[in-house]
Parts: sequence; C-alpha cells; structure tokens
Amino acid sequence: MNIGIDQISFYTSQYFLDLRTLAEARGVDPDKYVIGIGQSTMGIPPPDEDVVTMAASAAVQLKERGALDGVETLLFATESGVDQSKAAGMFVHGLLGLPERCRVVELKQACYSATAALRMAMGLVAMRPKSKVLVIASDIARYELGSPGESTQGCGAVAFTISADPRVLSIDPEAGFYADDVMDFWRPNYLSEAQVNGKYSMLIYIKALKAAWKQYAEESGRSLDDFARFCYHIPFTRMAAKAHQKLARGISDEDLEKVIGESLIYSREAGNCYTASLYVGITSLLDNAAEDLSGKRIGLYSYGSGCVGEFFSGVVRPGYRDALLTDEHQTLLSERVELTFQQYEDIYHYGIPTDGGEHVFPQYRTGPFRFAGMESHKRIYERV
Ligand code: HMG
Repeated sequence: MNIGIDQISFYTSQYFLDLRTLAEARGVDPDKYVIGIGQSTMGIPPPDEDVVTMAASAAVQLKERGALDGVETLLFATESGVDQSKAAGMFVHGLLGLPERCRVVELKQACYSATAALRMAMGLVAMRPKSKVLVIASDIARYELGSPGESTQGCGAVAFTISADPRVLSIDPEAGFYADDVMDFWRPNYLSEAQVNGKYSMLIYIKALKAAWKQYAEESGRSLDDFARFCYHIPFTRMAAKAHQKLARGISDEDLEKVIGESLIYSREAGNCYTASLYVGITSLLDNAAEDLSGKRIGLYSYGSGCVGEFFSGVVRPGYRDALLTDEHQTLLSERVELTFQQYEDIYHYGIPTDGGEHVFPQYRTGPFRFAGMESHKRIYERV
C-alpha cells in the first residue's frame, strides 16, 4: 500500500527582517549572512502570531480544499510549545472546527519531531487505510540578540495530511536513523531563547547524517544516483549545502544547485522553522521545480538537535502538481512586510505577560487567526 503526503501547505509570518539590515546593525559584512550562512531574510512573528496561529493558518488552506475530511488524528510537532500540559494542537483543533472524534497530541524532539509524527501517522494509516492524519509542524527560531545564532532565526509552519494512495509523495519504508545524547542545542523551560554550541551542532548534524545515510543505503541498496533531488533539514541554507557535499564528495557547484537548489528557496526567505524546516524544503522543491518530478525519488534528511537524525525517501506521485498550493505560498512570501531594525528589536522584546491579568495584544498583520491576548493565564485566539 502506498502511504504518504496527500496535501501540504506552508505558512510563515507576514513580517521579515532583511539580513543585510541585521548585518549593518551588528557591524558584520552582509556577505557573511547572505553568502556564508546563505540567508536573505528571516520571518519575524509579531506579538499576536505564535505557533498556534501559524499552524492554523497553514492547515486552514487544507481544510478549505476538503483535504481534512476523514482526519482522525492531529499530531502537532513543535519545540516552541505554548503550554506545559495542553497540546498546542488542541487550540488548532478548536480554531479549525475539527471533529470531536479526533486524537490530538504534541510531539517534541527538537527539529526532528515532525518526522516522528510522519512515521506515527503512517502506522495509523496502515492500520486504517481509509483514515487520514493531519501533521502540523510549527516553530519560532529565536536566539539571543547579537549572538552568532541571531542570523539563523526564522519562523513558519507546514501542515500536511498523511493518507493511503497520496497525491503528492509516497514515503518509502526504508530508513536509517541515529540517536545520541548530546548538548549541541537546547532550551531550558525558563528561557525563551535557545542555547547553542553552534560549531558543535554543525558537526553533530553531519555525524548523524553520515550514520543515517549509511544505514539507509545498506537497507535499501540505493546509491546517491537513485535520487533526483534531496531535501535536508535547513537551519540555514548553507548547512544543507554542506550536508550534501559530505555525502556527494567532490560534487560540482552546478550539480549541487540542481539537486538541492529548489528546496532552499522558501527557507532562504523564512529562516529556520525548526520542526517544519525539512517540510518547508519539500514544499519549496515541489512548488519550484521546473522539471516534472512525477515518479522521481527524493532523498530526505531530518535532524533534531540533542540529537536524532533520520534519512528516508519518497517518490513523487504522478499529477502531484494539481495538489500543490504553489500560488498561495508564493503570494504569501511576496506580500510580506519588511521591518526596520528598530521594529525588529521592539517585537523581539515584546514578552508574553505572566501576571495572569487581562492583556489585549496590538493587532498586526497575520493570517486568518491571531493570538488576541491573555486572561487568567489563558491564551485567547480569534479568527481575523
Ligand atoms: P558564526 O560562527 O558567527 O559564523 O556562526 P562563521 O564565522 O562560521 O561564518 C559562517 C560562514 O560564513 C562561514 O562559512 C564563513 O567562512 C562565512 P564556512 O567556512 O563554514 O563555509 N563567511 C563569509 N562568507 C562570505 N563573505 C564574508 C564572510 N564572513 C564569513 N564576508 C553558526 C555560524 C551556524 C555557528 C551560527 O549561526 C549558529 O550558532 N547558528 C545556530 C545553530 C545552527 O543553526 N546549527 C546548525 C546545525 S544544528 C541544527 O540544524 C538543529 C537546529 O535547527 C535546532 C533543532 O534541531 O531544534 C539548529
């Protein structure tokens, strides 16, 4: 039975900061960010946008197309959780008006958990082939101001449905996966900024990739030549390029661009979307590939610090383009509003009140949902 991604939708904040603006403010050569890190802009969520509103804004596009009919489970992957107990997916369940007969749960393992969700979803669909699972990955990458990580911030959400006989990408059964208890990147509960040992995190990302790829290649009997394209976890686009160069040693710049270039277009604009990043890459590839990828195999690498890495693959379904939301994604990115450096810092410092009082958040531009305020320690969401 073919099981995989039936429809996929991407959403990011309506606001961005140009990395050249950041470079100027920090006294850094802009080429370091644009060429060395490989990022043009980064998505910045205003105070009334969070992982819940981004997730609901991504998923509502699927609902409007009837793609959520038959969904029995909602798996929400994030490392920017809004509550220690209540799953962020419960708010989305309410905002989207999903049926009562629905399992809802939140999953965490840094940027890897959306792939764990995909795997679980495939198991559920294998047991009940007429059912569907909605997977949503939604995150906000936030580092300390002025730190090396600052230029690799970003935000975004991807919602996708897993079903039998999928329209977009069937997922192969083979996989290579690897875990190691390391401190390359983490965020204690009392901090809102991630802590990171940046260079070490890059080494571990590659170490996990090599181990996962070796296992995948042994199990599947495939080599790099069996793939038309590759999508990597994209903390910044140069990291994906470095990763592929490790597997395909000596690859020319032209071939590198051919096999990963289209997958990096959206991430170069949205920045790191943590759990969603690999899936932003898949969306970007399918939306932007001039070549018809029907029947072609795509290599996929998911990495979450701490760490878990998984190499797996999928085959693009014939007629997949009819199921894509390419116009919506490109309109979203082209209509974003640029922030000044001062506006970026003001938004960065706008904290979530913790006093339990009533707070109404200023209205910024968001998608169809916004985080309206707080009351008695409860988050209040509304449809715009
Ligand atoms: P840094 O140390 O300030 O940067 O921060 P650098 O000095 O290494 O420079 C970066 C690149 O720019 C280098 O390229 C420089 O040569 C180049 P490389 O040598 O590596 O190829 N460069 C220039 N290029 C052109 N013109 C110039 C110029 N100047 C320098 N003038 C670092 C870099 C990535 C460490 C930092 O941004 C950071 O800590 N980021 C956060 C951590 C991260 O993203 N790690 C990635 C792997 S871990 C991961 O992916 C998991 C994660 O998503 C979290 C999760 O799983 O939840 C992060």
